[in-house]
Amino acid sequence: MTTSTCPTTMVLLFLALAGFLMPAYAGNFYQDFEITWGDGRAKILENGNLLTLSLDKGSGSGFRSKSEYLFGKIDMQLKLVPGNSAGTVTAYYLSSLGPTHDEIDFEFLGNLSGDPYIVHTNVFTQGKGNREQQFYLWFDPTKDFHTYSILWNPLNIIFSVDGTPIRQFKNLESNGITFPKNQPMRIYSSLWNADDWATRGGQVKTDWSKAPFTASYRNFNAQACTWSSGASSCASSTNNSSWLNQGLDTASQQRIQWVQKNYMIYNYCTDKKRFPQEFPPECSFNI
Ligand SMILES: *[C@@H]1O[C@H](CO)[C@@H](O)[C@H](O)[C@H]1NC(C)=O
Ligand SMILES: *[C@@H]1O[C@H](CO)[C@@H](O)[C@H](O)[C@H]1NC(C)=O
Ligand SMILES: *[C@@H]1O[C@H](CO)[C@@H](O)[C@H](O)[C@H]1NC(C)=O
Repeated sequence: MTTSTCPTTMVLLFLALAGFLMPAYAGNFYQDFEITWGDGRAKILENGNLLTLSLDKGSGSGFRSKSEYLFGKIDMQLKLVPGNSAGTVTAYYLSSLGPTHDEIDFEFLGNLSGDPYIVHTNVFTQGKGNREQQFYLWFDPTKDFHTYSILWNPLNIIFSVDGTPIRQFKNLESNGITFPKNQPMRIYSSLWNADDWATRGGQVKTDWSKAPFTASYRNFNAQACTWSSGASSCASSTNNSSWLNQGLDTASQQRIQWVQKNYMIYNYCTDKKRFPQEFPPECSFNI
């Protein structure tokens, strides 16, 4: 593990010096990503502007970013598996490596034609997850591309869909709750079969007669601090960036409350069966 143990003051000092903004940039999949598995089922197309993953009975497929990041505002457009996608899971996440890894997850759980996908989210810190929140979407995510974003800065993690925040995980280190801030993460995505749990808790199985299943990606965009050879690109830059200290403004707080009221279907912070004694400590601080 390459976990550095910077005291908070050092991190804040680093950040004060770090002001950095990578210019808005429409990524190229050849340049920014590498296919990691699937034996030809993952494809980069259209001169690097489109990436597709597919799943059939033989295998799923996946890719990861070439760069590692330590904080960033990362947008990707996805068009999820259309039609009968029951049993399939499209995962899109940031993760570091090792037993005490950090991870920020979007997982899209497929469904029968016309039935709603579930957007499953989780946050791992120091190897500990169990912080699931799940949502329905307010549109059909298989008809068009939509933007799924992860903002990760020293203040908070914000998951957004088409610019609407759906979940915030605050930095509550001052309350003794760990927060990802020392371990660089890569972007990963994969499409695989999870019909033992994904759709209606595993009751609906993958219909292999509908294979191959395909999910598509385009317009990757990262404003981020890249990490290489133990140094952050942000340390050497002189520009301030807004994303590095972005939280939820009043309008965003109203949006997130709208989502949580109307589209949230599971929240670990209200699951009394799972936490009969008391909820995890961060639950009393997050919306
Ligand atoms: C699939 O559709 C059923 C019926 O509407 C719903 O209960 C379930 O939450 C949906 N999503 C998944 C992934 O099971
Ligand atoms: C820094 O900010 C200025 C003004 O916004 C901009 O013109 C310049 O390109 C930025 N430099 C870098 C390295 O991002
Ligand atoms: C950068 O941030 C510092 C501290 O917040 C501020 O004083 C300074 O004016 C900012 N510089 C620019 C170019 O925005």
